[in-house]
Amino acid sequence: MVMKKEFMRERFGRGSFFILAVIFAACIVIQVFIAGLSIFVSPVNWMNHTMFVHLFGMNLPLLLFVTALIGKIPKWAYLHTFGLLVFIFAMYFTANITDNIPWAGALHPILAMILFMQSAVMVMNSWKMIVKKQVIEGVE
Ligand code: HEM
Repeated sequence: MVMKKEFMRERFGRGSFFILAVIFAACIVIQVFIAGLSIFVSPVNWMNHTMFVHLFGMNLPLLLFVTALIGKIPKWAYLHTFGLLVFIFAMYFTANITDNIPWAGALHPILAMILFMQSAVMVMNSWKMIVKKQVIEGVE
């Protein structure tokens, strides 16, 4: 009974981690889309770009961390989550330091690409983890 409860808890944590990783990757794509809207449609959208990142930038990595704990996910999950936080911080930095270091702004879209790649790897890793678990369950 205790084993089953533990198993369910782990499953819940790992499933939630995967779903949050997908949402994070989608948020990065939306954030780039909003940047596109700001450039091609109306500069008013920069306000949405700034507002949207405030919604997910710190909150999702925090939730990823909590679900990694619940799901007892191996070390890679913590490293990735920490990596996301570092890159989000770098996004704030490169967007706000342009008065002093103008070329830092040019790094902002490059970091956006790296952030997307990192979140895509996170989605793939957590998907594999869940599928592998299913295979193990199938054998058991
Ligand atoms: C190619 C895509 C992107 C472009 C061209 C771009 C451009 C910009 C620009 C021009 C600003 C300043 C807006 C203003 O001060 O009114 C900004 C702010 C910001 N962007 Fe991006 N961005 C891109 C993608 C991203 C992505 C993917 C993220 C992911 C988290 C992000 C995070 C931020 C943050 C954190 C700020 C600062 C918000 C603040 O100061 O409160 N950007 N971006």
